[in-house]
Amino acid sequence: PKTLKEAYKDYFPVGVAVAPRNLSGPEADLIVRQFSSITPENAMKMGPIHPEPDRYAWEAPDAIVAFAQKNGMKVRGHTLCWHNQTPQWFFTDAAGKQVTREVLLERLKQHITDVVGRYKGRIYAWDVVNEAVPDTGKAIYRQSKFYEIIGEDYIEKAFEYAHAADPAALLFYNDYNTESSTKREKIFQLLKKLKAKNVPVHGVGLQGHWSVYEPKESELQESISRFASLGLAVQITELDVSIHAKEHGRREMTADDKSVLTPELLSKQAAQYEMLFKTFRKNRGVLTGITFWNVSDKSTWLDNFPVRGRKDYPLLFDENLQPKAYFNRIVDF
Ligand code: XIL
Repeated sequence: PKTLKEAYKDYFPVGVAVAPRNLSGPEADLIVRQFSSITPENAMKMGPIHPEPDRYAWEAPDAIVAFAQKNGMKVRGHTLCWHNQTPQWFFTDAAGKQVTREVLLERLKQHITDVVGRYKGRIYAWDVVNEAVPDTGKAIYRQSKFYEIIGEDYIEKAFEYAHAADPAALLFYNDYNTESSTKREKIFQLLKKLKAKNVPVHGVGLQGHWSVYEPKESELQESISRFASLGLAVQITELDVSIHAKEHGRREMTADDKSVLTPELLSKQAAQYEMLFKTFRKNRGVLTGITFWNVSDKSTWLDNFPVRGRKDYPLLFDENLQPKAYFNRIVDF
């Protein structure tokens, strides 16, 4: 049986999101055998990597990049500017008062310059701005601190700083729920504006936090084609296929929530993954990377999210790190 990276070597790198704890023991073996690219799940986000104004925490991200280099894997960086997992200090001065546009821009510039600069030549693609577009409503821009304090040009500035720090890196705008037609159009408008202003944006990341029920093939194809029509590369950056219907917002577990991977759900998941990879293959040349969000069902960010206490089984490898029964249908085509 083939591995993911062998099966797709003429299509795109197949990546996986990791934490430093995944990089030893049986998980490390699985990662090296199956994948050709790696993304730090949390280690390069603003909070984890830049916990205090004058202190960076390089240990974890350095270890991940070194592991990739040692094993001949590519690295996708994630993420330089996001409203989540960003420390409060970014937005406030020593007295606790909100900083001005000029100060926040300077901090953003320093942060991006330092982080991208450190890994220059070793990270081939960066998620520069993450989730800047809201799911609902007409507004294109999410009301984040970056937006409120700087204004809409924080996005183009972030891309410019990243490009200056590593002109060879491919720069992505990354978001979820990109198959819903309203959000897709808003992201499209944002990217179109950036392209018209010659902002150095090279691709769009569709996170791909999907489920056994969504998206439909036509919705996915429409998203890929629409973004590609702007001359952008498309990557699936955070792929998983939840066994639960998608819901937005955190809540507690109820009696209706089941954390069981039934044979019926497993076969739905097989069909969904087959459809997804068939569609990915059809878009060869446009789709330039696929990254799974976590290694195996042993531990995934969807355990407890968005429903506390509920487990999920969204990946191709099971809780014992074994390929699921339908795995060969994904790698033999
Ligand atoms: C998630 C991580 O997987 C979790 O460990 C963390 O607690 C929260 O963030 N969209 C993104 C990712 O862009 O950075 C998120 O990762 C998942 C949703």
